[in-house]
Amino acid sequence: METKPPEEMLATGQPTIVYFSSVSENTHKFVQKTGVANVRIPLKTAEEPPIMHAPYVLCVPSYGRPGGAGSIPPQAVKFLNQPQNREHLVGVIGAGNTNFGDLYCIAAEKVATKCGVPLLFKFELMGTQEDVQKVQEGLEEFWIQNSLYPASA
Ligand SMILES: Cc1cc2nc3c(=O)[nH]c(=O)nc-3n(C[C@H](O)[C@H](O)[C@H](O)COP(=O)(O)O)c2cc1C
Repeated sequence: METKPPEEMLATGQPTIVYFSSVSENTHKFVQKTGVANVRIPLKTAEEPPIMHAPYVLCVPSYGRPGGAGSIPPQAVKFLNQPQNREHLVGVIGAGNTNFGDLYCIAAEKVATKCGVPLLFKFELMGTQEDVQKVQEGLEEFWIQNSLYPASA
């Protein structure tokens, strides 16, 4: 039997989150709590990134050096370097830690600005129940408002 890559199985027209999460897995735990369809970017930069064929939002933690340089994880940069992935990106969710002050969720801010899409939500570490609910409801609303659900036959 043919095994489809996860991104094809997820081209369902439903709200979808593509995310990167390091070994600390805060972002992974948050995304799983939302129950939203999701695809994980591989931890190893050498691995091939998923290729998206339908609209999705990118959920990305910040990993800055002092001064904020290099805050976007290289795995997420590699994923976004694929033209199809930039084409289907409709928004960004930022993960971070407010201890970083002005640099809170700086990676998500940079991606949103560079790719010309809105920064929809920010959350700290693995997020609160309120964050989970905001993302669940907010993504449904965003998909409706932007006509991202496929037209029914
Ligand atoms: C070295 C390092 C640098 C970080 N830099 C930032 C930062 O600039 N801004 C921010 O909001 N959070 C920053 N964080 C916090 C992480 O984004 C936060 O812990 C996030 O939940 C990690 O997600 P993950 O466990 O899924 O990889 C940093 C964490 C580390 C370890």
